[in-house]
Amino acid sequence: MVPWGPVLGALLVVIVGYLCLVGLLRQRRPQEPPLDKGSVPWLGHAMAFRKNMPEFLKQMRAKHGDIFTVQLGGQYFTFVMDPLSFGPILKDVKRKLDFVEYAEKLVLKVFGYQSVPGDHRMIHSASTKHLMGHGLEDLNKTMRDSLSLVILGPAGPRPEASRWHEDGLFHFCYNVLFKAGYLSLFGYTKDTEQDLLRAEELFTQFRKFDRLFPRFVYSLLGPREWLEVGRLQRLFHKTLSVRENLEKDGVSNWIAHMLQFLREQGVAPAMQDKFNFMMLWASQGNTGPTSFWALLFLLKHPEAMQALRKEAAQVLGEAGQSFTFDVSALQRTPVLDSVMEETLRLGAAPTLLRVVHDDHVLTMASGEEYRLRSGDIVALFPYLSVHMDPDIHPEPAAFKYDRFLNPDGSRKVDFYKAGKKIHHYTMPWGSGVSMCPGRFLALSEMKLFVLLMITHFDLELVDPDVPVPPVDPQRWGFGTTQPSHDVRFRYRLRSPE
Ligand code: HEM
Ligand SMILES: *[C@@H]1O[C@H](CO)[C@@H](O)[C@H](O)[C@H]1NC(C)=O
Repeated sequence: MVPWGPVLGALLVVIVGYLCLVGLLRQRRPQEPPLDKGSVPWLGHAMAFRKNMPEFLKQMRAKHGDIFTVQLGGQYFTFVMDPLSFGPILKDVKRKLDFVEYAEKLVLKVFGYQSVPGDHRMIHSASTKHLMGHGLEDLNKTMRDSLSLVILGPAGPRPEASRWHEDGLFHFCYNVLFKAGYLSLFGYTKDTEQDLLRAEELFTQFRKFDRLFPRFVYSLLGPREWLEVGRLQRLFHKTLSVRENLEKDGVSNWIAHMLQFLREQGVAPAMQDKFNFMMLWASQGNTGPTSFWALLFLLKHPEAMQALRKEAAQVLGEAGQSFTFDVSALQRTPVLDSVMEETLRLGAAPTLLRVVHDDHVLTMASGEEYRLRSGDIVALFPYLSVHMDPDIHPEPAAFKYDRFLNPDGSRKVDFYKAGKKIHHYTMPWGSGVSMCPGRFLALSEMKLFVLLMITHFDLELVDPDVPVPPVDPQRWGFGTTQPSHDVRFRYRLRSPE
């Protein structure tokens, strides 16, 4: 008989001892940023960080200044809080800071996708070709038609559309943007009615995954949730399977181009399905929540709504009467652009992460030099360092629809910190090598959605005095934030005057 008790006990002591030692042994070396290991071995500050990321970082900044290293779950993160010092990190001319290494591990865990050489570059080149500039022409039109299909239904407006309908604003926006975005990118079959039903069902599953996502990333799911995540992953792999979607029309050139690359690299069909899941997530996880914040701010700020409706009437003119206006009209909408930029300033809170390769010296804007340790992660959180900096954006917590407009009505691009002009005055899309390649399409679809909603519908909050709900604290650091609870609203199709 093996005495398992003592063996396991000894093993536990060894493991715990090792974990504590790794933490305890790490000492700040000369020229390194202030080191804060936290009081719990290995975990470090993980609990406080997860509970409220901006609050935690604010405290650390007050204690240590604009650069510091904290321990979070066995990994050391160096946060750089001074936006004037972001340049060398984002440009990284010496190629010592690596985005891909961290991202590859994450997407393998979350989507099951095993990266192949060159795929990161390929995603960006496919996006430059099909999600930007002239390449966006087709998708712009497809997106407009999909939005109108989703909002009005396949047969166009029905008589009952002009009666009031009540819904949760977050649910409504996320649902519409998801279905229109999914169908535009992943294609239709010949049966549009069925496509809409399938997209609706997929949204329900997507939201289940979405709710589990933050704790999944931090490996904090319970056993049941763990099983549920596995089930959802398989469901998405199957629904987005390249084999089962052969008969679809109008798969976007963007998706088709990327899948062709994977085929040419000899990537197995099952792995292509996982790639599709990753792309569904990247393309649909933020536009819905952002559109929610945009409409909510407009409903809470009548002066903004009025200015926007005025601009829409001018720009769209007669064409605004129909759902199929010329998309090129959206190039001349400075008020709407400012509303979206302000919404993203308040709503987008991504973390930018880079793994340090070889010890590396970072020069701050102040001229101070800090040594970064190989294997650590450099992290930026622009929401706190840039979006909420009262020096760059006075009264940073307030929604000001014209914050990004010059007095003459043109787009404002001049912002200052400590008297110096600042290049990165908002960073909702990240920056540098991992900057969101879908940002032009994202803006296009959100602008189309907001315009369609405000020009064709009467909208009102069920309770006009309802406050803007707080951010769900789990969502900090993962792209666009989500509200901790939904807000009821009413909408009805406007009758033509
Ligand atoms: C409001 C909407 C959106 C926001 C706020 C947003 C934000 C971001 C951010 C912050 C990143 C960088 C992540 C990182 O550095 O780790 C990112 C990456 C990405 N986004 Fe977006 N995004 C949006 C919409 C879209 C759309 C509509 C698409 C595609 C149609 C898209 C495709 C991607 C892809 C493929 C990546 C990965 C890029 C890479 O690996 O380098 N995004 N997005
Ligand atoms: C696509 O739409 C966006 C705004 O919705 C606009 O700024 C852009 O110029 C359009 N692109 C093309 C090629 O039509």
